[in-house]
Amino acid sequence: MVSEPGSAAAAQVLVASNRGPVSYAVGEDGELTARRGGGGLVSGLSAIGDEADALWVCAALGDGDREAVRRGIVGAGPQAPQNKGGGGRRAGESGVRMLDIDAEVHAAAYNGIANSVLWFVHHLLYQTPLEPVFGREFRARWAAYETYNRAFADALAAEAAPGAAVLVQDYHLALVPGMLRELRGDLRIGHFSHTPWAPVDYFRMLPDDVAEQLLRGMLGADRLGFLTGRWADAFTDCCVRIIGGTSGTRIGVHGLGADADFLRERSRRADVEERLAVLREQVGEGRRTIVRVDRTELSKNIVRGLLAYRELLDTRPEWREQVVHVAFAYPSRQDLAVYRDYTAEVSRVADAINSAYGTPGWTPVVLHVKDDFARSLAAYRLADVALVNPIRDGMNLVAKEVPVVSDDGCALVLSREAGAYEELGEDALPVNPYDITATAEALHTALSMPDDERAERTKRLAAAATALPPAQWFLDQLRALTG
Ligand code: F6P
Repeated sequence: MVSEPGSAAAAQVLVASNRGPVSYAVGEDGELTARRGGGGLVSGLSAIGDEADALWVCAALGDGDREAVRRGIVGAGPQAPQNKGGGGRRAGESGVRMLDIDAEVHAAAYNGIANSVLWFVHHLLYQTPLEPVFGREFRARWAAYETYNRAFADALAAEAAPGAAVLVQDYHLALVPGMLRELRGDLRIGHFSHTPWAPVDYFRMLPDDVAEQLLRGMLGADRLGFLTGRWADAFTDCCVRIIGGTSGTRIGVHGLGADADFLRERSRRADVEERLAVLREQVGEGRRTIVRVDRTELSKNIVRGLLAYRELLDTRPEWREQVVHVAFAYPSRQDLAVYRDYTAEVSRVADAINSAYGTPGWTPVVLHVKDDFARSLAAYRLADVALVNPIRDGMNLVAKEVPVVSDDGCALVLSREAGAYEELGEDALPVNPYDITATAEALHTALSMPDDERAERTKRLAAAATALPPAQWFLDQLRALTG
């Protein structure tokens, strides 16, 4: 269904992503409550203000979202009148259109392909003797991924004004640029990858036709954005080796930074102070802290972080009773068994450390699994050491946020496989994320760092981390696409 471009409701700037800027929950009384998300795109879209007519196209993700679509709270169809008013109009006074894609199609595309295949490929997560297996089941899921991408391409084609800029996000929507290009040759299409990009030998595990379809889908864009030069180069390498080149599509790097103004203000509010007091109590007077805050995501390497901490307590017993590992591991993608198993393993290892080393007055690991943003900020403020050791990560904003919020300076133990390493590597303590002995040593060095050195490094880390604030990050991409 393609609408006439140029009608009154058509948008000048469109963002497309699987998860939108708002989600809805149905209460027991049947009332819908909206929860607004944060992040770079929300700030970015706010920054363009009202001059441009902007629209965010996303998927309805749960029953609440689907109900919000049915009740007309968020735009459901092309140029639906609700797009311009009511609960959907905020993300920077812009419209939101949620696509009510068939739940089975969405699950097969999101869980079955995006999170179980593409995420695994880009983060090198397969245990290759047994996986991946690409057979008929995979093909059915791949067909759903195509349908889901097609739904986005159709909606964008219907909503965009002539010559509008469309900014497509992430691996969920890799086929959208190519599909949209066929429908609307007049649009300026950008695509941004928030993940790493796989090395070519790993990417080639995908069936040949699928690998090619993904690359050609992305190259339907006028311009592709990546978080670091390393990921951009890996993508180019795949294109050169698999399809002979990038067909003239421009490629740019935009290293999303932390939002200093927001973080500094938010982290000094009363709810954060309250949680800080509780955390101090849990840690105990005079002890040092090693803090980590993550979604419980396979790539975050939380289990090896715990094993490194255990090794530190073994090899450097002087730290026993003197340090607490404050680990926040918030649930993520619990529809997938492998994520549920990983979440259970994190708790199991934390409990094992507490049983083996804990004393009546000292709990070596304080693990929290319930998402609480104010408590995360409190932990950032308290941290003597931040542990950010992903196997592979597009950027990792925690590494950038902690130095900005830290009260007394914080030493950063940082995986060299995180995108943030490109900008923060000089003042961080780098680690190979698989090497828990080296990680334990880096934790020891970080804990032993003199106060003045820690403060100096933190200042430089905070400056590097905030070099490209979210609004600027977004506007730069828009300008590069339309300029
Ligand atoms: O962090 C990388 C990223 O691709 C984000 O851009 C995106 O919001 C997230 O992962 C996807 O996570 P989820 O599956 O919880 O929506």
